[in-house]
Amino acid sequence: MRRVVLIVTLAVAACAATPAERIQARQDLMRSNKAALIELGKITSGEAPWNAEAAQRFAVTVINNAVRIPALTEKGTGPESGRTRARPEIWTDPDNFERAAWNIEDQARGILALARVGDEAGVRARLTRLEKDCDGCHSRFMFPEFPR
Ligand code: HEC
Repeated sequence: MRRVVLIVTLAVAACAATPAERIQARQDLMRSNKAALIELGKITSGEAPWNAEAAQRFAVTVINNAVRIPALTEKGTGPESGRTRARPEIWTDPDNFERAAWNIEDQARGILALARVGDEAGVRARLTRLEKDCDGCHSRFMFPEFPR
């Protein structure tokens, strides 16, 4: 199932965007990940009221984003095509890069399942693991700063 979704996503992305547009879409996607995690953090820390439906929505955002990462990091979407913090390891170590994308998909699917049964503490614990997996990919595949 995941493979089917991925192929469809790749086909759509391949005809819809130039490399520069894909870099932009990738950075937008990552900002949407960040926004989803901030909201999840609020509703699981007491800063905002716990809301199981909202938690499911944020989890689905991260799942959908994770599935799109490979199509938005195709060859040619590096610094040769625009302003990006993408590291060359994305293209020299693609298996580990894809695995890192699957890791956050798995964590977000776990959050979705926990949110469906209303397990706030479970979502909170899983969110911590999700954040580690975001950082794990960044430390390996993203430069801390934009190149000058
Ligand atoms: C598979 C690897 C990978 C995973 C997993 C990943 N990221 Fe990223 N992220 C990147 C890369 C690569 C960039 C740099 C994109 C660029 O500059 O073109 C990036 C950039 C970002 C940025 C900066 C976007 C900007 O404004 O330029 C944010 C914020 C971000 N990621 C948040 C997240 C969050 C939150 C998660 C977890 C839910 C996450 N990322 C998961 C690879 C990943």
